[in-house]
Amino acid sequence: MIGGGMGWVKGRVRELKRWTERLFSLYVDAEIEPFRAGQYNRLRLPIGDQWVGRPYSYVNPPDRRPLEFHFVRVPEGPLTNRLVHLQPGDEVELMPRSTGLFTLDQVPDAHDIWLLATGTGLGPFLSMLETDEPWERFENIRLVHSVRLAAELSYRDRIQGFIDRAPGRFGYVPMVSREICENVMCARIPATIEDGRLEALAALTIGPGHSQVMLCGNPEMVRDTQSVLKGRGLRRNRRGQPGQITVENYW
Ligand SMILES: Cc1cc2nc3c(=O)[nH]c(=O)nc-3n(C[C@H](O)[C@H](O)[C@H](O)COP(=O)(O)OP(=O)(O)OC[C@H]3O[C@@H](n4cnc5c(N)ncnc54)[C@H](O)[C@@H]3O)c2cc1C
Ligand SMILES: NC(=O)c1ccc[n+]([C@@H]2O[C@H](COP(=O)([O-])OP(=O)(O)OC[C@H]3O[C@@H](n4cnc5c(N)ncnc54)[C@H](OP(=O)(O)O)[C@@H]3O)[C@@H](O)[C@H]2O)c1
Repeated sequence: MIGGGMGWVKGRVRELKRWTERLFSLYVDAEIEPFRAGQYNRLRLPIGDQWVGRPYSYVNPPDRRPLEFHFVRVPEGPLTNRLVHLQPGDEVELMPRSTGLFTLDQVPDAHDIWLLATGTGLGPFLSMLETDEPWERFENIRLVHSVRLAAELSYRDRIQGFIDRAPGRFGYVPMVSREICENVMCARIPATIEDGRLEALAALTIGPGHSQVMLCGNPEMVRDTQSVLKGRGLRRNRRGQPGQITVENYW
């Protein structure tokens, strides 16, 4: 294999952490340009006679190294089935420059912000929450993490740090969809907004005059949640046409 192509930089794997059979975090050292919380890079590896690259959001805040990525092994997924075999010291290539507009500077001011994620869509919110911006701009912050199984409720320690940082202002709502467990809602995000359970549990209401909502992960969750929120009078936030709903689809 001939070495890295133009425009890519070499990164070196520091660690691959395994949360469950299929859920991982990858730590990489690489020289890249500054990025904003919520942005993503691309990871690529040579597979057969081709390079395969995919976008991955940063979990680490912009001022912390190593770079950190949270990913799920997709059955038959070309890249993730290779990422899971990485060892410390292995090479992986990245882009020198990061991309993406799923950043807080794109989100209008409001009293409250809701950060709603499925699966690995949690990552960009962790990066944002480790910067000062959400804490300076929003009175109340609610983080919702929706996963299939309780074991996939990753980063609980880091999230506990946010709870400790701002008791009362920050709330975490875990949701599990494919098993019943104590103290965790067994549901999907849109249904719990529709029937009022999420707001009751989070002790905060959602409305166009006081809420901003960011959605990240499964595109069906993003679509279905937007449609429920539109029923509440919230609108998509676009450049030049501010609204309350900012989204990032992972596929
Ligand atoms: C802007 C952006 C940021 C992304 N950030 C991340 C990230 O931080 N972590 C991450 O794991 N993935 C992320 N993805 C998805 C990632 O780029 C890959 O698609 C994914 O890792 C699977 O790669 P693959 O080559 O194994 O399979 P692919 O051929 O790329 O995907 C096959 C199928 O797997 C499913 N799938 C893909 N990604 C996910 C996912 N994250 N969770 C559940 N099902 C999925 C979809 O049905 C997809 O069609 C992001 C995608 C985009 C567009
Ligand atoms: N053994 C295996 O090989 C195995 C097992 C499981 C998953 N997988 C694969 O792993 C990937 C899934 O990863 P993942 O579980 O992190 O992500 P995911 O499939 O996006 O699921 C994450 C959460 O999103 C929810 N969700 C799905 N559609 C939604 C919608 N329209 N509205 C609201 N919420 C919705 C899911 O609920 P629901 O549970 O109700 O869908 C789940 O709670 C897929 O590629 C899948 O094929 C593999």
